[in-house]
Amino acid sequence: MHSTAVAMATAIDAQRLWQRHMAMAEIGATPKGGVNRQAFSPEDGRARQLLISWAQALGFVVSIDDIANVFIRRPGSDANAAPILTGSHLDSQPTGGKFDGAYGVLAGFEALQAIHQAGVTTKRPLEVVVWSNEEGCRFQPGCMGSAVFTGKLQVHDLLAVTDKDSITVDAALQATLHCTAPLPRRSPGFPVAAYIEAHIEQGPILEATGTTIGVVTGIQGMHRYTVEVLGEEAHAGTAPLQTRKDALKAAAAMVGALEELMADDTDTVRFTIGRFEVSPGSPNTVPSRVFFTIDFRHPDQTVIDQLTSQIAPVCRTHARGCEVMVRQISAASPTHFAPAFIDTIRQHAAALALPHMDIFSGAGHDAMHLADVCPTGMIFVPCDKGVSHNEAEHARPDDLAAGARVLAACLVDLANR
Ligand code: GLV
Ligand code: MN
Ligand code: MN
Repeated sequence: MHSTAVAMATAIDAQRLWQRHMAMAEIGATPKGGVNRQAFSPEDGRARQLLISWAQALGFVVSIDDIANVFIRRPGSDANAAPILTGSHLDSQPTGGKFDGAYGVLAGFEALQAIHQAGVTTKRPLEVVVWSNEEGCRFQPGCMGSAVFTGKLQVHDLLAVTDKDSITVDAALQATLHCTAPLPRRSPGFPVAAYIEAHIEQGPILEATGTTIGVVTGIQGMHRYTVEVLGEEAHAGTAPLQTRKDALKAAAAMVGALEELMADDTDTVRFTIGRFEVSPGSPNTVPSRVFFTIDFRHPDQTVIDQLTSQIAPVCRTHARGCEVMVRQISAASPTHFAPAFIDTIRQHAAALALPHMDIFSGAGHDAMHLADVCPTGMIFVPCDKGVSHNEAEHARPDDLAAGARVLAACLVDLANR
């Protein structure tokens, strides 16, 4: 392996990387030790401001695009060369952890600083990116910033999307752009030579096998739906059961039937109803409206097609006289990273004598969009018991630093090709 790449790995400062995680985790900190830093919230804005202040103090040029993706650039020797991009997201789940997303951004920033302070010249520029709204818990769909960057979504089509409190993407995005101003504005979607993202595994495999580095081979496919069931309000004491249009009873039947549809002895199907709202929510009024979400994932496109095509018919079959609207919010096919890119990461992990293994991602990542426009790969590090999307999420400083070392080595290598 390239000796500069290996030397770069040794310039990673594990303590600085850990301290930055702890400083970032103070923004939106929850009493149980996690973070609530949902997309385009004031906390998301403050997290971006903190990172931007670190970047500007080191003399890096920071820019932002129309969906508020932030870019921190270290120039290369070839002014015309497309950059190597690395990063992840700073937004979190409402009860999220300190490392999901933040790790990929901070590992990328640590690598940039290490390379910079070692005075290493790269042919291509290096850029650390903060993708907007990866989580998709407040505003759907998730991976919004990377979907806009890769041309799959247009900003103007997203502005009317609302959160649970009827705040629009337009209003929240403007507030985020305002709090990070003044930054040079870039158009989304400039050419990128390669993208590499570091992330905690969010699953139990690396820890269970005593492996420090997961060389990610791909990401399972992921579909999201919303289901709206409309019935009729009626008096709980007087309306005969036969004449009711009870939206909750219909929705409960749908959920039971969907559970049966998704039953899988191999435990490969991932089927989650994470939000379920009943209106008007009065103990003595028959519910007239239920709204719920479906998150469906699988590694195999054939199974995805077969099962997701049944979702709307199953819901309609159990409508019990209610109206039912099933809407698809997003659909990402399984991603398979290119073998040559996987091999680059594998070789750098081996050169650094780090225990490593190939691993397939159950979680979704911005890398799935980038993989459609440029050579892309991911590096995983272990997290405690695989716990994630949970305030108890935890990762070890040594493992975080090991992932940043592999990342730094890959960045120097890729940026000199
Ligand atoms: C991202 O957090 C996902 O839901 O996989
Ligand atoms: Mn994430
Ligand atoms: Mn997440």
